[in-house]
Amino acid sequence: MKTLRQHLGWKLFFSYFIIILVGVISLAIAAEFVTPTAFNRHMASMETMMGGSMGGMMADLTEGFQAAINEILFVAASLAFVTAVFVSTFVTRRIVKPIQEMQTASQHIAAGNYDERVEVVGEDELADLAQSFNQMAHTLSQTEERRRRLIGDVAHELRTPLSSLKSLLEGLVDGVLPAETGTFLDAQREVSRLQRLVQDLEELSKAEAGELTLEQSWVQPNAFVETAVTRLVLQYEDKDVRLHAELPGNLPLIYVDQERMTQVMLNLLGNALQYTPSGGKVTVTAQVEARQIIISVQDDGIGIPSVSLPHIFERFYRVDKSRSRTGGGSGIGLTISKHIVEAHHGRLTAASPGLNRGSTFAIVLPAD
Ligand SMILES: Nc1ncnc2c1ncn2[C@@H]1O[C@H](COP(=O)(O)OP(=O)(O)O)[C@@H](O)[C@H]1O
Ligand SMILES: [Mg+2]
Repeated sequence: MKTLRQHLGWKLFFSYFIIILVGVISLAIAAEFVTPTAFNRHMASMETMMGGSMGGMMADLTEGFQAAINEILFVAASLAFVTAVFVSTFVTRRIVKPIQEMQTASQHIAAGNYDERVEVVGEDELADLAQSFNQMAHTLSQTEERRRRLIGDVAHELRTPLSSLKSLLEGLVDGVLPAETGTFLDAQREVSRLQRLVQDLEELSKAEAGELTLEQSWVQPNAFVETAVTRLVLQYEDKDVRLHAELPGNLPLIYVDQERMTQVMLNLLGNALQYTPSGGKVTVTAQVEARQIIISVQDDGIGIPSVSLPHIFERFYRVDKSRSRTGGGSGIGLTISKHIVEAHHGRLTAASPGLNRGSTFAIVLPAD
């Protein structure tokens, strides 16, 4: 059983009732005090005009007038009371109904039905509330959808290395595969891939939750570019891809996490190497433009088809699934890189004139 305090309708009715009560009481008091004085003044002037005493008549008149006023007050108060009942019922319905709808909808959403929406009626604060409610429901359903997809994607990514490992082990057990170093190296490669995937996933989940912790300091862009170049120089030589890094020496300092920016450069340079055939060339340049530092990594490799460009930063997205799987890519590198650059209030962009015509990735960072 709900108490009066829990009912909006009753609260509303009582607020009307109090206003009516105050109105009636103040009118009654005013009539009580003002009438005799007003009558007296009027009668006094009439007495002098007509001569003789009118005392008895005046008392009579005052009494009659007050009775009339009381009657009028009673009728008016009753009318106001009935109106209050109707108006509060109507207003309550108008207010309570949408609130109840939202309550029901929120219960449905809590139970996992994310498609629930409420009707937006009118333009008042309740309509605003309904709109915000729907917005919230929409965001929740998107989050849920992303979560579901992530789990599906992760399961899919785990499946391939796991089944490779399984068949390797089965081959060993059955004696189909020789128990020699080559076989074990294959197994080790699959395990490494799993390990890398798990590490990437860890990074990704942190990045997507906005929990990347940055240890920022003022650094020369050359610092992290050179670190990344030095670390990859041997791999570039192995594949016979030329690596050119020609940064101007007078670049302004930028406030970044050097470790993380190195990670981004390693990702971009690693991709450029992976997607550029032997004999190709990768160039790193930097320039200052409109108070921004732009660091570009340009390759003359396989390029990216224009239909794939908009998706390149989505997690697990690969243009050619089979090709990069053999290269060990999980399609997470660019997603993490983008998150890192954006955490620095910058942008990471990709451009390519088309298949086999190279690609250019650019880190754009504010230089202030
Ligand atoms: N320099 C590049 N040239 C051509 N394609 C690229 C390049 N960099 C990235 N890509 C494409 O973008 C996809 C996503 O890159 P990334 O997130 O680093 O994942 P991966 O682990 O596959 O390297 C790659 O699979 C590849 O198809
Ligand atoms: Mg990559």
